[in-house]
Amino acid sequence: MRRVRVIGVGMGPQHVTREAADALRSVDYVLAFAKGEDDPLLEARAHLCRAYGDRPLVVVSDPPRDRDHPADYARAVRDWHEERVAAHLQVLAERPGDVGMLVWGDPSLYDSTLRIVDALAQHVDLVVDVTPGISAPQLLAARHRIVLHEVGRPLHVTTGRRLREAIDQGQDNVVVMLNRTVDLAGLEDWRIWWGGNLGTRTESLVAGRVGDVLPAIEEARERAKAAAGWVMDIYLLRRPSTAAEGDR
Ligand SMILES: C[S@@+](CC[C@H](N)C(=O)[O-])C[C@H]1O[C@@H](n2cnc3c(N)ncnc32)[C@H](O)[C@@H]1O
Repeated sequence: MRRVRVIGVGMGPQHVTREAADALRSVDYVLAFAKGEDDPLLEARAHLCRAYGDRPLVVVSDPPRDRDHPADYARAVRDWHEERVAAHLQVLAERPGDVGMLVWGDPSLYDSTLRIVDALAQHVDLVVDVTPGISAPQLLAARHRIVLHEVGRPLHVTTGRRLREAIDQGQDNVVVMLNRTVDLAGLEDWRIWWGGNLGTRTESLVAGRVGDVLPAIEEARERAKAAAGWVMDIYLLRRPSTAAEGDR
């Protein structure tokens, strides 16, 4: 039986919980994928390995993924997952011992690690556990000092690609992740709480009426990208009729 520990590490070393630190120290090595040669999260993972138990970081190159043909999106993701699984199986075969897999934020949100682990378990006997981490929506809410929805109301979490679908469904409070751009045409009267590179030195925040603050968000995205070399951003959008102050 191999043990695989999926460890949420939040948005940076300051978010590593005692439980996550103990899990990291308990494994024989940490397995990570490098998304290209300058994957910004790889150095963060290496830092965590050094800080907690000095476990070796075994890096595998992420297989290339076809991101440019949305019509084939599901197929492209499936192929990419299969290649990732094959690469993991190879490492497991070559290296004995317990494996740690570090997840940015929390494994429950837009992360494929647990799906990969499920696929691995079809080939190898595994015992799996998960340590939760602080996710980007939690940090966004904390930084803006907001509740993500009004009293007793639902919250919808989606991707930039699916935002319009959520609007058309009538969602009032939408957290939007995985943004390639921030395209909010026609939503000028909605309220937005935006955060870029949260938890890092280049963190920035913008909030207000979409029509008023969109240029500031675009500038903040460019600034973060220039300063850090990358930008990851997230925002909450609230429909105008439900955006009354003191509504929480
Ligand atoms: C692949 S998902 C990973 C989400 C992560 N598992 C979590 O719990 O938040 C990456 C997306 O999360 C959001 N995100 C992750 N880190 C962020 C950060 N430091 N600042 C702002 N958004 C972030 C962005 O929307 C980014 O495109």
